[in-house]
Amino acid sequence: MWRTHNCGELRLEKVGEQVKLSGWVQRIRDKGSLLWIDLRDRYGTTQLFIEGTSASAELLEIVRSLGREYVIQVSGQVIERISKNPKMATGDIEIKAEEIKILNTSKVPPFTIEDDTDGGEELRMKYRYIDLRRNPVKNSIILRHQMMQYTREYLAGHDFLEIETPVLIKSTPEGARDFVVPSRMNPGEFYALPQSPQTFKQLLMVSGFDKYFQLVKCFRDEDLRADRQPEFTQIDCEMSFVTRDEILAAFEGLTKHVFRKARGVELEDFPLMAYDEAMRRYGSDKPDTRFGMEFIELNELAQGKGFNVFDQSELVAGICAPGCADYTRKQIDGLTEWVKRPQIGAKGLVYVKCNEDGTFKSSVDKFYTQEDLKNWADKAAARPGDLLLVLSGTIAETRKALNELRLYMGNELGLRSNDVFKPLWIVDFPLLEWDEETSRYHAMHHPFTSPREEDMHLLSTDPGKVKANAYDLVINGVEIGGGSIRIFDRQIQQSMFDALGFTKEEAEKQFGFLLNAFEYGAPPHGGIAFGFDRLCSMIGGTESIRDFIAFPKNNSGRDMMIDTPSQISTEQLEELSIFVKKPTE
Ligand code: AMO
Repeated sequence: MWRTHNCGELRLEKVGEQVKLSGWVQRIRDKGSLLWIDLRDRYGTTQLFIEGTSASAELLEIVRSLGREYVIQVSGQVIERISKNPKMATGDIEIKAEEIKILNTSKVPPFTIEDDTDGGEELRMKYRYIDLRRNPVKNSIILRHQMMQYTREYLAGHDFLEIETPVLIKSTPEGARDFVVPSRMNPGEFYALPQSPQTFKQLLMVSGFDKYFQLVKCFRDEDLRADRQPEFTQIDCEMSFVTRDEILAAFEGLTKHVFRKARGVELEDFPLMAYDEAMRRYGSDKPDTRFGMEFIELNELAQGKGFNVFDQSELVAGICAPGCADYTRKQIDGLTEWVKRPQIGAKGLVYVKCNEDGTFKSSVDKFYTQEDLKNWADKAAARPGDLLLVLSGTIAETRKALNELRLYMGNELGLRSNDVFKPLWIVDFPLLEWDEETSRYHAMHHPFTSPREEDMHLLSTDPGKVKANAYDLVINGVEIGGGSIRIFDRQIQQSMFDALGFTKEEAEKQFGFLLNAFEYGAPPHGGIAFGFDRLCSMIGGTESIRDFIAFPKNNSGRDMMIDTPSQISTEQLEELSIFVKKPTE
């Protein structure tokens, strides 16, 4: 027997019992006549105690040869500690070691196995199996496991069937590039890895599995960020014979269930906000509604007063930063530089300080009277002591930059607490997006998303105006999930492909299987997919989804531990009928 107990479970009531524990050496303290070892496993840490005077020479020799991260087995008696450690779950007891066996030695680990380690990101990724021993990382992986169980519990409890779909498939259009896999048996041909199981879950609806879900790996070759990995996991769901509101209710239920079970948080009902409204009030289709600072459109008040920059702008809009009127020149200059960075893209920043004495001080005093500035302040419901920050330009540029500035000020003012959760549904997205580069429409969600019933007639006449029956779940400014009611009629699907500029042949070649299936009794259906890694990091309270993935990739899509992507041999390439041109001398 390797162990009778784990390293996290022994308490005072076991005092006197003979036990055996196995684990890793976290720490050794050698005070000459008294020695202690912290023994760690997944469940916790237990202190081992060795009394130099009474221990055998053999035991002492073993103890003195131990190093950090050695794997050992200890036999001994549970005793009550003289000085207890209330911070440790096992802090009331220790094990009086009688025998210690070294099960395996360890090189000195490249970084400390502590909550705050001295190891940098790259080193920790290279030795991820060691990093996973650290409490914060280990706990994130355990949280992920629990959330998977709560998800299954809820969905299976509501009659959803978990059905797996294939991984070697053909391109699914989710807007990113595909990862492809060459087929040896079909020279020159490739599979694509799924960007999502979208088409398969729709086919399952045609098959009659009216409630489907899957915790599924998806693959997207796109630029990576803290909340994007090339392979990530979705809670993918689809339902038949449902309305949009029934879908929203079902998945609001799932979200509440997981938050309640995994975090002990009761979420309030999720409000709905139309895409257009979100863009107007927050300049983003994923607004962080933990705080106000909503956009104030100032065109009417700020234009026609001789300030050229504003007069020539499509949109003049600002936010009111509460209590910031005492910002110094240096702070305002800092903000101005910040909004002018290429990533933010503003050309400048206008401020209005609402002084405590009721007067106003602004960077555009030359063009505006105190009366004018008061009107702005009134529209913004600004109070003495507040600071208005105003940007201008095209609608799209101004909204983008002001959204960034709003989030930045939200951080500065401590309004974006990780302990507050503000979910909402964004609905009524545009169906199509015009792409200047290719001069054609793209589906904003994907080409199977249904137009809203009332906009159906516009599809062939004014496609840019059509709103989609699509929805996103946004929490604290993060897009956690998205879905839509689908087109289930072959003719409408065909007009959608027409609007997207697909020829009949292209549509047939890429999606013929789905179009055909729609001719064999496709039910009305719709669904959603949650970004599971994002949901984990939201509930776990950290920014990066990497913390919740056992073996993640870095921002260049590289697995530092196994060192991949990597080259393959010429033989393997030839076998796959891939011929790589050698660079010419
Ligand atoms: P969508 O493309 O919106 O919809 O994806 C659903 C959710 O998946 C998460 N997500 C990601 N998470 C981590 N890394 C990535 N690279 C990444 N890309 C997306 C996001 C997103 O909201 N088939 C549709 C769903 C449907 O219509 O039912 C789809 O995949 O949280």
